[in-house]
Amino acid sequence: MSRKSILMVVGSTRQQSYNQALAEYIAAQLQEHADVSFLDYKDVPILEQDAEFPTPASVVRTRETVAKADGVWVVTPEYNHAYPAIVKNLFDWLSRASEAGSQEPTVIAGKPITFSGAGGSTEAFYVREQLGVYLKKIRMNTMDDTGVGIALPMESWVTGQLILSDEQKAALNEQVKQFIEFVNV
Ligand SMILES: Cc1cc2nc3c(=O)[nH]c(=O)nc-3n(C[C@H](O)[C@H](O)[C@H](O)COP(=O)(O)O)c2cc1C
Repeated sequence: MSRKSILMVVGSTRQQSYNQALAEYIAAQLQEHADVSFLDYKDVPILEQDAEFPTPASVVRTRETVAKADGVWVVTPEYNHAYPAIVKNLFDWLSRASEAGSQEPTVIAGKPITFSGAGGSTEAFYVREQLGVYLKKIRMNTMDDTGVGIALPMESWVTGQLILSDEQKAALNEQVKQFIEFVNV
């Protein structure tokens, strides 16, 4: 089994983001089995069809980084039971061709993907449910329909620290195990 590469996509740029911390926890578990890196996509502009071609340099770089990864793992908060705009915008760019009129598969076609989210009592369920539908629609190879959700405990909201229970860690570790198997098929 060759060592695969997994790209983490965090749906929050907030300093002290719980989802960034969650992604770092997941990355630490993945690192035993795969090479892990984080996508920096802060400079990807809002998609505007009149400015889609020639492709902005930041989008070219982002697409190249995604193309090289064997699998993608999204870790995102839920905003009003839906996606943060940066996540939707990123994947809308990735769902498009590199050149006008090109029929070539996009960099994400068939790419293995899974997702997780941390938030309030909904465990980011709604964004995870929507990602399951949306990522399939843009032809990604989704491992699961809803991924794993984390309801942050009150202590996390008070201290600003991600605090995971043993049960939550076990669910995430199982997702890690399954995703490693999924990208290695
Ligand atoms: C616009 C907005 C909408 C939000 N809606 C939800 C929500 O629907 N469900 C939820 O659990 N938390 C919601 N939150 C709270 C986030 O879970 C919280 O801000 C969290 O810290 C965001 O993740 P981060 O720490 O990774 O940035 C919302 C926050 C914002 C800014």
